[in-house]
Amino acid sequence: MTDTALLDAARPAAPANDVPARTPGVARTRAELDAALAMLPGPVGVVMTMGALHDGHAELMRAARRECASLVATIFVNPLQFGANEDLGTYPRTFESDLAICAEAGVDVLFHPGEAEMYPHGRPSTIVTAGPLGDDLEGASRPGHFDGVLTVVLKLLHLTGPQIAYFGEKDYQQLTLIRQMVIDLDLDVRIAPVPTVREPDGLARSSRNRYLSDLERAGALAISRALRAGVNAGPRGGAAVLAAAEATLAAEPGLVVDYVALRDPELGPAPDTGETRLLVAAKAGTTRLIDNLPVLLGIARETARETARN
Ligand code: PAJ
Repeated sequence: MTDTALLDAARPAAPANDVPARTPGVARTRAELDAALAMLPGPVGVVMTMGALHDGHAELMRAARRECASLVATIFVNPLQFGANEDLGTYPRTFESDLAICAEAGVDVLFHPGEAEMYPHGRPSTIVTAGPLGDDLEGASRPGHFDGVLTVVLKLLHLTGPQIAYFGEKDYQQLTLIRQMVIDLDLDVRIAPVPTVREPDGLARSSRNRYLSDLERAGALAISRALRAGVNAGPRGGAAVLAAAEATLAAEPGLVVDYVALRDPELGPAPDTGETRLLVAAKAGTTRLIDNLPVLLGIARETARETARN
């Protein structure tokens, strides 16, 4: 049984399988959101998204549904986190199918504001600064991206007022920075991480996968293969992990690698042994893809399991 299945048994407010999915209430303004929130019993969970929903997003919603009496989802393509040459204009917008996925996952209220509702005075002059980690890894090629993410996440936390907010490990640096913001700014919310949902062949689900041609998609599989090669090399140490991942990526001519990085779980320098995170970013054609996995360094996995049991 998976962790998820175990928790299913304790699910408080989820619709049973034979009950038809109920369309969530859609709030497009702060006033509509406030009115809808006033009706919801706590604890409230929130899942923030930019839409173009897939099973990765749905998994966050299912996790929230298991733990919370009420579930709020948000869809907002946040201009603040897109660079000038990025895909803000063409980012997929699929509201009807998004609504169906939210209904299926048991969302009570869907907040779907327009840009003028979120930023009524235009670009805000006060923003959250992500600090040094914001300029590293993803931030190195996407300057200002994480400031834009943290600013909208903080606003959405204020507007939706949840007890628990769910974020995917798929965007591991984003998750880490959000946790840091919650600590640094004394936010009264629990951040719940959700493991990455993958296609059956290993590709991490992403709204941007739809941009991939068949050939690019085949090449993109080298990313999850490289991560698994890294995990398997864990008992031989950090250098072996990086070498295994890099060799797998180098063997795939269809990918342009941006970075392969091994870090500690908070994304500081990796230790010599113990828990680490292996992260990869690469482009397949014009589509930038990211993925990551936990890697246990330097301890044979059987030994580690023994240690955990005792
Ligand atoms: P978006 O890319 O739509 O992702 C919304 C949430 O879904 C994030 O927490 C992300 O990590 C999670 N997610 C995406 N793909 C996943 C997968 N395959 N498995 C598990 N979780 C997955 O991330 C954003 O939007 C934005 O930056 C946002 C936080 C909403 C702020 O604008």
